[in-house]
Amino acid sequence: MSAGPVPFVDFRARVARLRGELDAAIARVLDSGWFVLGPEGEAFERELASALGAREAVAVANGTDALHLALRAHGIGAGDEVVTSSISAAFSALAILHAGARPVFVDVDPLTLNIDPTAAARAITPRTKALMPVHLYGHPADMDPLVGLARERGLLLLEDACQAHGARYRGRPVGTLAGKDGIGALSFYPTKNLGALGDGGAILLNDPETAALLRQLRNGGQRDRYRHESEGWNSRLDELQAALLRVGLGHLQAWIGRRRELAALYDRELAGSGVVPLLEQPYAHAVRHLYVVRHPRRAALMEALGRRGVATLIPYPIPLHLQPAFSFLGGKRGDLEVAEQATDEILSLPLYPELEDETAGRVVEAVRAAAREC
Ligand SMILES: Cc1ncc(COP(=O)(O)O)c(C=O)c1O
Repeated sequence: MSAGPVPFVDFRARVARLRGELDAAIARVLDSGWFVLGPEGEAFERELASALGAREAVAVANGTDALHLALRAHGIGAGDEVVTSSISAAFSALAILHAGARPVFVDVDPLTLNIDPTAAARAITPRTKALMPVHLYGHPADMDPLVGLARERGLLLLEDACQAHGARYRGRPVGTLAGKDGIGALSFYPTKNLGALGDGGAILLNDPETAALLRQLRNGGQRDRYRHESEGWNSRLDELQAALLRVGLGHLQAWIGRRRELAALYDRELAGSGVVPLLEQPYAHAVRHLYVVRHPRRAALMEALGRRGVATLIPYPIPLHLQPAFSFLGGKRGDLEVAEQATDEILSLPLYPELEDETAGRVVEAVRAAAREC
């Protein structure tokens, strides 16, 4: 056990464990002399789709593009509204703006901080074209009511699964829960449960025609070389990242298992400590991307944890309707009370597959002592 500070994540430990496999993947790409949109990317798409229960996967440059291109592939753009959660990475909503549409932020379920389906239903107007739930922190949103709502109102249901690779809702993998129309976005930002050594993203879906359109859109709208059918984007995943992600994909289930073990340890050991963890709901198989707890005196708690050598983060300190980038939409404090209170209280503890039980035990001791002080 190292007695030093506990980092929030430890990429060097991850790379050290995988070094031989990563070096072999890099060598394979270097030897192939093919660097963009090639056999590694194609193999990754096949392996990813099969691992996550989708008919198709389309690899792109990042998760933001995955969301943006999924909206564009469904013709969503200027004048359209997309109903989404008020707690997420701002990139979720930026993707809606990139498509030319308008995000409509709604309040969250206090148990999971995922979109509240009743609030989503209330926000629908004649301009609404899509619902975009976010499976925040790796815990699926309550999808049955949202699938029903999307069907009833003829809306696209786009799952932001950027933090939730491999999560399941009532036994079914997230990303394509809307059946034949199912579509979801993944990010491979390095901190994600399946992370690249750089940026990457993918769209999971069940419709091969939309997948073909997405393959055009990510490559400047080209159908064949130099024939541009549509106003596409440049969002190609390079062969090196695809090869490295193939290595990670082989470990994803084990990593999820380890994240769940650590989360169970925290759930058990932090009960009654003064911090309130967000717990897994009965419908969910969460992949514990982040382990988030609430505390009414968050700043003092984080300071006390910092003094004890435990790194923490706030995901996210500002709900999206109050982010400066979205102020033109007119959101103000008091609009979405559950999200506003939650974003004042949440913090995330270190949780990554390489974290050892003993180190997690030190985090528990530090949280208990810090909470007594605050
Ligand atoms: C929920 C969510 N949506 C979208 C994104 C955007 O992904 P990327 O950073 O790969 O563009 C992220 C990650 O930053 C995310 O966590």
